[in-house]
Amino acid sequence: MAYSRILGTGSYLPPTVLSNAMLAERIDTSDEWIVSRTGIRARHIADEQETTSDLACKAAQAALADAGVAADEIDLIVVATTTPDMVFPSTACLLQEKLGVHGCAAFDVQAVCAGFMYALITANNYIKSGMAKKALVVGAEVMSRILDWQDRRTCVLFGDGAGAVVLGESDEPGILHAKLAADGRYKDILNTPAQIADGKIQGMPYLHMDGPAVFKFAVKALSDIAEKTLGEAGMSKDQVDWLVPHQANLRIIESTAKHLGLPMERVVVTLPEQGNTSAASIPLALDVAVRDGRIQRGQTVMLEGIGGGFAWGAVLLTF
Ligand code: ACO
Repeated sequence: MAYSRILGTGSYLPPTVLSNAMLAERIDTSDEWIVSRTGIRARHIADEQETTSDLACKAAQAALADAGVAADEIDLIVVATTTPDMVFPSTACLLQEKLGVHGCAAFDVQAVCAGFMYALITANNYIKSGMAKKALVVGAEVMSRILDWQDRRTCVLFGDGAGAVVLGESDEPGILHAKLAADGRYKDILNTPAQIADGKIQGMPYLHMDGPAVFKFAVKALSDIAEKTLGEAGMSKDQVDWLVPHQANLRIIESTAKHLGLPMERVVVTLPEQGNTSAASIPLALDVAVRDGRIQRGQTVMLEGIGGGFAWGAVLLTF
C-alpha cells in the first residue's frame, strides 16, 4: 500500500495587522490583559473584498510552488474552513476555479479548529486507497467576519489567514498515525448558531464561547489524545522533534507540551503575531517552521488541536 507524505507547504496572511493597542482604542481591553491571558499580541485581518477562497488560493499556490507540483497535477482538493465564502458551492470548488484547474474531486471539511487535521487524514486515506495521487489540503479562515467586535471576550482572540500542504503518494511513510475525536455534547460552549431560513439569518451570527469551560476541556482532551496517538504508534515523546499545535491560547499550548514532557523549544508558536486562525492555524505554523528551517526533512512532527463541536485530534508524521 502507498503512503502519503507532505511534498510542500505554503501559507498566506492578509497584510492588515490589528494590534492589541489598536483594539484597546475601540473596546474596553488592554494589551496587558490580552497578552497575559492568551499570549496574543496582534492578528491579521482580511480586507472587506477578500474571501476565504482568496486566502486559500494564495496559500495553495505557495504550497504548490514549494512542492514543485503544477495545479493540474492535483486530483483532490480538501479545504477545512468554518467561514466558507457561501453556503454552497464549497470553498474547495471555488478554490479549484481560482487555481484554473477543473475536474478533480473537491470538497470542504468542517471541524472548526480541528478541521485541518480532519482534512489531512481524509486526503491521506484517499491517497493510501489509491483514489488520489496528489492532494491539496488547505485550512483557511476569515474569522473576523463571524466576530462581534464589541464582545471583548471573543474578538481579541481570533485572526484571518490560510495554510496549505501538497500531500502526495510516497514509498516512504509520511503520515504515521492519527486519532480524531468529537463530542457533540459540548456544542453549547463554543459555537456560531446562526442558520439561514426563510430568506433571513436566524439566530446569533457571531462566535460565542464560554472561555473558561473551553480552556478546561481543551487542556485535558489535547493531552489525552496526544498521549494516545503516541502510544498507538508505538512511539515515545523523545522521538517527537516538533509539536505543531493549534494556536488558541499560549497557556493551553504550554500545558499540553508540559503534559507530553516536551520543552517549549520543540513547540512551534505563531500565536503572538497571528492570534487564533481556527482551521488555518496548524498549517500556518507548520509552514512558518518549515520555511525558517526549524522543521527539516525526516523529522517527526506531531500536529494537535481542538475546536468547536467539540472536535479534536492529533497527527504524527515524518516530514
Ligand atoms: N479584556 C479585558 N477584560 C476581559 C477581556 C478582554 N479582552 N475578556 C474578558 N475580560 C474580563 C471578563 O469580562 C471578566 O471580567 P468580570 O470578572 O468582571 O466579568 C474577566 O476578564 C475574566 O474573564 P474570564 O472569561 O474568566 O477570563 P479567563 O481568565 O478565563 O480568560 C480566555 C479568558 C482567554 C478566553 C480563556 O478562558 C481562554 O483562553 N479560554 C480558551 C479559549 C480557547 O482556547 N478558545 C479557542 C479554542 S477552540 C477554537 O479555537 C475555536
